[in-house]
Amino acid sequence: MGLAKSLKCIECSRTYSLDHVIYTCTSCGGLLDVVYDYSEVDAERLRGLWARRPMNVWRYQELLPVNSALAVSLGEGGTGLHRCDRLAQKLGVKELYVKNEGENPTGSFKDRGMTVGVTRAVELGVKATACASTGNTSASLAAYSAKAGLTCVVLVPSGKIARGKLVQAIAHGAKVLAIKGSFDDALREVRRLCEQRRLYLLNSINPFRLEGQKTLAYEVFEQLGMKVPDRVVLPVGNAGNISAIWKGFKELREIGLSEGAPKMMGVQAEGASPFASMIIEGRDKLKPVEKPETVASAIRIGFPVNWPKARMAVVESGGWVTIVSDKEIIKAQKDLARLEGLFVEPASAASIAGLAKMLEEGLVDKDETVVCVTTGHGLKDPDVVLKFYEEVVEVSPGEVEEALGEVLA
Ligand SMILES: Cc1ncc(COP(=O)(O)O)c(C=O)c1O
Ligand SMILES: [Zn+2]
Repeated sequence: MGLAKSLKCIECSRTYSLDHVIYTCTSCGGLLDVVYDYSEVDAERLRGLWARRPMNVWRYQELLPVNSALAVSLGEGGTGLHRCDRLAQKLGVKELYVKNEGENPTGSFKDRGMTVGVTRAVELGVKATACASTGNTSASLAAYSAKAGLTCVVLVPSGKIARGKLVQAIAHGAKVLAIKGSFDDALREVRRLCEQRRLYLLNSINPFRLEGQKTLAYEVFEQLGMKVPDRVVLPVGNAGNISAIWKGFKELREIGLSEGAPKMMGVQAEGASPFASMIIEGRDKLKPVEKPETVASAIRIGFPVNWPKARMAVVESGGWVTIVSDKEIIKAQKDLARLEGLFVEPASAASIAGLAKMLEEGLVDKDETVVCVTTGHGLKDPDVVLKFYEEVVEVSPGEVEEALGEVLA
């Protein structure tokens, strides 16, 4: 039996019953959070229950706000936590792990949220789901909607999403519309649509989705042998994931399973860094970026809707942020692929680029245990590799040795 009690506005504390279909507070427009009664949790009993189940999102069903008997699941979660000694040595940090979310069914962390969000849609009895997307959200929602037999509507910024992701949304039968505008324009449009029609909105403004995403924290804790790392470094786009993962770690502490919690370190790309700029400049309000631009299309977002929750995650955890260039992102992608065998998309590589910068800037200490979250698989965006990496050499039979040259030396 789940322990979720209500929805609560993070700004004015107004509470709503879980049966309410709302995405933001009707009094003040604030973001909503799912509230649990942690006093009812017996930590040891919970640990015993978890240990008997496979490692996936539903292992943690007591801390999810939907009926697990109705779960719409493709086997999400249970992704690898890879110890990366070769990369750690290169960067100059003692203990580095990569939590590789590209191992999820549709190749990104979004699946953790969608399994819970689409299960919620089924509980509500809606017939159709919708989202705006920089790519991965649409791929994931399309797949989970297909599994549940729901119609799926997807709005993407025209010409601005990676090919692999667009292909997934089409393959799973979503109705895909390319909006002439940015992701932020698409999100505004889909929010309006979902308020006026019977479509269930599954962007990360939906608090149920973030509940699924928080399970990454539980997994990291278990995979490290019931310990929390010193730092968690991850890319920030619409700022939902950093908020969700922080909630997961806070819960572990609240229910008495862990003693501490990691510092949450957000990374944004130079041309799309409204959140990181706000933190660095010490502001408490976000200034949107009108025309966000970066090679990391997944985090090409000018107005991250979850910024108030993400700001709390950084401040409460004692974390920080950094900003990386496209060049640093591509270099990090290559390093991770070539030193550790992990191929991740550019937005995900931002976490590695960000860690390199934080070490340089002295924000992270060499002796710390660091977990970088790589959010999506490299195959999502093949064009980036074809554009920025070595060209493939064409040869005739008989010219192979000559072309290999030094490789054979
Ligand atoms: C691969 C990848 N990384 C990071 C992000 C950013 O996550 P969030 O929007 O939760 O900050 C996204 C979001 O689309 C993504 O697809
Ligand atoms: Zn409110």
